[in-house]
Amino acid sequence: MAEGTKSFLDMARERWSVRKFALEQISDEHMARILEAGRNAPSACNYQPQRVLVLQSDDAIAKIRSLTHWAFNAPTVLLVCADLTESWKNVDGCDSAEVDCAIALDHMMMEAWECGVGSTWVRGFDERVMHAAFGLPSTWKVVAMMPMGYPAENARPSNWHFKRKSTEELYRFL
Ligand SMILES: Cc1cc2nc3c(=O)[nH]c(=O)nc-3n(C[C@H](O)[C@H](O)[C@H](O)COP(=O)(O)O)c2cc1C
Repeated sequence: MAEGTKSFLDMARERWSVRKFALEQISDEHMARILEAGRNAPSACNYQPQRVLVLQSDDAIAKIRSLTHWAFNAPTVLLVCADLTESWKNVDGCDSAEVDCAIALDHMMMEAWECGVGSTWVRGFDERVMHAAFGLPSTWKVVAMMPMGYPAENARPSNWHFKRKSTEELYRFL
């Protein structure tokens, strides 16, 4: 990861899910940049339903690690929720809450990478457990978790990272 020298396409190609972290906490400057990227994400009707818990205190980190092993040893974990009272609903019943949160989180993941901060998008947890543990409002949906921090020296991409479907499989020009 080279801070500030890569095009977006370079970063999209290179980024991989980091699951082993250095002990050092993310700097305030990098954290501010990451959160600012999420704040500027587009959302349906600009309703911005994302609500993000930034877990960094010893108590919060101990709690999330006790609830799921997908927090790894990250010094920071984002818990990304959607306030369902604030999301746009289409006439066909489509609720944009999760899409809006996913866009915001993707912005944060990519800005993190640019800062040299690694992360993994995680959904392998029980939403009900998160609700109870963090006393979340009943109108919030937990969309994803993102452990993040500077990668450990011996962190490596998983094999999955190298498996991408071909353009022919993914795209159809009409
Ligand atoms: C919606 C979603 C859920 C995911 N859940 C998990 C998870 O629970 N645990 C995990 O280790 N990785 C999880 N991942 C990461 C994917 O496994 C990973 O992005 C994929 O294998 C490609 O690897 P790469 O990110 O290293 O390129 C998730 C990714 C997404 C987008």
